[in-house]
Amino acid sequence: MIMILIGPPGSGKGTQAQRLEQRLGAVHLSTGNLLRDEIAARSSLGKTAETFMNSGQLVPDQIAVEVVAEHMKRGEPDTDYILDGFPRTTNQAEELDRILEERGLEVGTVVEIHTNDEVLMERLTGRFACANCGEGYHKSFKRPKNDGVCDKCGGVEFEVRSDDREETIRDRLGVYHSETAPILPYYAKRGLLVRVDGEKAMGDVTKEIETILIDGR
Ligand code: AP5
Repeated sequence: MIMILIGPPGSGKGTQAQRLEQRLGAVHLSTGNLLRDEIAARSSLGKTAETFMNSGQLVPDQIAVEVVAEHMKRGEPDTDYILDGFPRTTNQAEELDRILEERGLEVGTVVEIHTNDEVLMERLTGRFACANCGEGYHKSFKRPKNDGVCDKCGGVEFEVRSDDREETIRDRLGVYHSETAPILPYYAKRGLLVRVDGEKAMGDVTKEIETILIDGR
């Protein structure tokens, strides 16, 4: 199963992918996380990507496609994937079809997590994560059970993403509307696209996606 989660920054792609990966026995593949790993490793790919990411722009297609292709090459041929944040341009969507075809696979379901921009700004400016295990939190919607201690690993250091500044968030939202939203018809034409309401509670969004998968759409 290849499932794609498409939605603007903060719509809950990462949150939903994390919740679904264990239940579905699938691998959560986030291009944003893979690129941040490259930046942390100070690789040349990471250095190039960092400039684009810090200014809220997409990294060049070639880089995004390369990280996905490399990651998939390392997995078993029958691995199920939840793709979070890839593809984001028509060119990437076409490249993904090519990568999957080489493995005898195809895109199964594409879920658009629809959320209005005003909601997203509040979500992203309040987001933080455990510096040790990466577990995500929000200062209003999802606080650690014990303040200052990660629920998952007990870590006590937290970090805020460098692209979660208000001005950069505005740029990221603009890029979503101009470059990523236009790929939705690419999947709608093939009958693969379904839309969920990303403004519902996290658990309700998860249930909606699970129902879609069970219904086989
Ligand atoms: P990436 O890391 O993918 O960031 P993004 O798309 O901007 O999305 P986010 O991770 O910010 O949000 P999300 O939708 O995952 O929401 P989350 O679950 O965290 O990409 C970063 C950058 O990398 C890009 O800008 C680009 O430069 C580059 N890049 C990545 N992929 C690329 C590609 N394919 N091509 C080119 N460049 C690429 O939730 C956000 C917050 O809201 C959290 O605090 C969460 O707890 C809360 N929340 C989630 N759902 C709900 C809910 N239902 N109700 C209340 N709160 C909620």
